Amino acid sequence: MELKRFTGQVAVVTGAAKGIGKAAAIRFAEEGANVACLDVDDPANEDTAASLRQYGIESIAVHCNVADPENVSTAICLVVEKWGRIDILVAAAGIYTGAPLNEVTLQQWQRTIDINLTGVFLCNQAVAPIMIQQRSGSIINISSMAGKTSWPGTMEYSASKSGVIGLTRSVAMELAPYGITVNAVCPGNTLTEMVRGVAEKVGPREGMTPEEWLRKRAEDCPMKRIAEPWEIAGVIAFLASKDSRYITGQAIEVDGGMVLC
Ligand SMILES: NC(=O)c1ccc[n+]([C@@H]2O[C@H](COP(=O)([O-])OP(=O)(O)OC[C@H]3O[C@@H](n4cnc5c(N)ncnc54)[C@H](O)[C@@H]3O)[C@@H](O)[C@H]2O)c1
Repeated sequence: MELKRFTGQVAVVTGAAKGIGKAAAIRFAEEGANVACLDVDDPANEDTAASLRQYGIESIAVHCNVADPENVSTAICLVVEKWGRIDILVAAAGIYTGAPLNEVTLQQWQRTIDINLTGVFLCNQAVAPIMIQQRSGSIINISSMAGKTSWPGTMEYSASKSGVIGLTRSVAMELAPYGITVNAVCPGNTLTEMVRGVAEKVGPREGMTPEEWLRKRAEDCPMKRIAEPWEIAGVIAFLASKDSRYITGQAIEVDGGMVLC
């Protein structure tokens, strides 16, 4: 049986141009939602939005830097003007820089926090009044296994992702009385442009080619492989569905058991 859990609903997905955000946008479109794709990469974002229309839904691509409060508020106003409601927010936009403690610059730290943490805060804050008025909604913030554990040379990323988990818990408690659920998803290594970029950067630093580094990450995982973006999107969709109505404030690992290592 084909699942169509989101027919007539409106989903806002940040970071929709690529990777996990794109996979989530596709999943919501496949299951009947109208989707607003928010990203800074306009050509790729337009491609995502256009590709969603094959599922017979409406979609728009909106230029939005999630770290910019005006961009976020303009984008959310545009979505509400078009469809009159927002049922789902997926805050997936993010970056990875990464450097050892003695090399990481204040600018690098600040940029990561601005996009990965402040960006999630701004998007949660912008959709909350709309969902409160509706007395319904689902917010899914994308953290990382790096938000629960860590490793050397990744402090600004880990800090931003732990921050997303803390933010998620607090917002979940505040919005629970209105029937709104707020959860975080913590992916393990997932085959996207981001993880390929990490492999190119960290691999040589650890004496490996990017391909060797990716293979090592797969071997280190109890499931012996790296995730595909659609595997993360499946959990995101579950957290937006009726089946998860009583789950809120959680940070759910989707990492093939990696965080157990
Ligand atoms: N790929 C992984 O292994 C992995 C693991 C754990 C968590 N994550 C998290 O999942 C999320 C998605 O990552 P991905 O792997 O799909 O990365 P990706 O690089 O493939 O996609 C990220 C998207 O975010 C967009 N983006 C970047 N900065 C932005 C900004 N300021 N405003 C709006 N959009 C912006 C990019 O243009 C891109 O389309 C990120 O939050 C990332 O930290 C990824």
